[in-house]
Amino acid sequence: MPGIRGPSDYSQEPPRHPSLKINSKQPFNAEPPRSALVSSYVTPVDFFYKRNHGPIPVVDDIERYSVSVSGLIDNPIELLMKDIWKLPKYVVTATLQCAGNRRTAMSNVKKVRGVGWDVSAIGNAVWGGAKLADVLELVGISKMTSTTTSGGKHVEFVSIDKCKEENGGPYKASIPLSQATNPEADVLLAYEMNGEPLNRDHGYPLRVVVPGVIGARSVKWLDSINIIAEECQGFFMQKDYKMFPPSVNWDNINWSTRRPQMDFPVQCAICSLEDVTAIKPGKVKVCGYAASGGGRGIERVDASVDGGKTWVEASKQQKTGVPYIADDMSSDKWAWVLYEVTVDVPHSTEIVAKAVDSAANVQPKNVEDVWNLRGILNTSWHRVQVRVGHSNM
Ligand code: MTE
Repeated sequence: MPGIRGPSDYSQEPPRHPSLKINSKQPFNAEPPRSALVSSYVTPVDFFYKRNHGPIPVVDDIERYSVSVSGLIDNPIELLMKDIWKLPKYVVTATLQCAGNRRTAMSNVKKVRGVGWDVSAIGNAVWGGAKLADVLELVGISKMTSTTTSGGKHVEFVSIDKCKEENGGPYKASIPLSQATNPEADVLLAYEMNGEPLNRDHGYPLRVVVPGVIGARSVKWLDSINIIAEECQGFFMQKDYKMFPPSVNWDNINWSTRRPQMDFPVQCAICSLEDVTAIKPGKVKVCGYAASGGGRGIERVDASVDGGKTWVEASKQQKTGVPYIADDMSSDKWAWVLYEVTVDVPHSTEIVAKAVDSAANVQPKNVEDVWNLRGILNTSWHRVQVRVGHSNM
């Protein structure tokens, strides 16, 4: 593809913030410290988790970079960046969360495969770009279409990076055409993150952002968009990012029995405390994030210091000065909430937090209940230990 290329080694990686916790160096996978994650509603780009499956692509000539739109349509097109910049620009605040967020805690119960993540494979950004629904109109697909006359039902996004899981081929994924053509679903071809052009790690010059859906479908470094009849057959749709029951193991797995994971379930984590923290007895402020997929808001976040016998409800916030009401017009429907609650801790204990979304979905109590061999979607109650000491603290 002119203008952009996917290197086959890691000699041209971009600089990264030194405080990121590196979970894998090549490909580069890293997350910010918990406390940094919740110091602002909008996650600074430097502290936004980075999830890659190959070397970061290099743009040699932005004027020659283009995205093709083809497949089951009559008139395929090639869009230069200037064509995309000309389309109406939308700004959407949306949380991206990797399906592998909190995988390490799942592995602690029974080993799972995949890069280990603490609780920070999640971030909230202000994405700017064109709506995919507007781009698809350019090739004659109207808004709110679920099937084209030629049988197109899915929209596939293909990147330019070289991934070993694809035998050196590019990362790819798809979403249903009905979601892609629904302007309310806010699927973007984003060229900006927090008001700046995307940086290389996050998909420069152009990436897909599918709000409310696991991060794996938000393809970075977009090369082509294909209208296809069946969902994308790529590795990351068919042989990864699927949720299996706890009984399935690597000997009896049958990938075709499950659908690719799309929406993420309700999630929350405590970010003001590490897994084990020494504290003085008394009041402890507990802060963290809560988010749900599919555009569902957060109804409640509860914390407990007695293993869930009694709970204290947290206060929730998105923008300062604007009260947060789940699913209200004034709330960012695709974004997380930050919460805060003060609990009384007289002695060493476990502090737990759980969130409830606007459809009354609640996080499961135990990680064992959602354990799966790929270690995705650990949304069990988040637990941290506090050790109370009485002197010199
Ligand atoms: N797109 C490409 N081309 N290559 C990738 O490795 N990783 C996916 C997705 N898009 C990936 C990709 C996954 S699994 C996630 S969670 C998000 O990008 C992470 O986006 P971020 O690195 O901007 O946080």
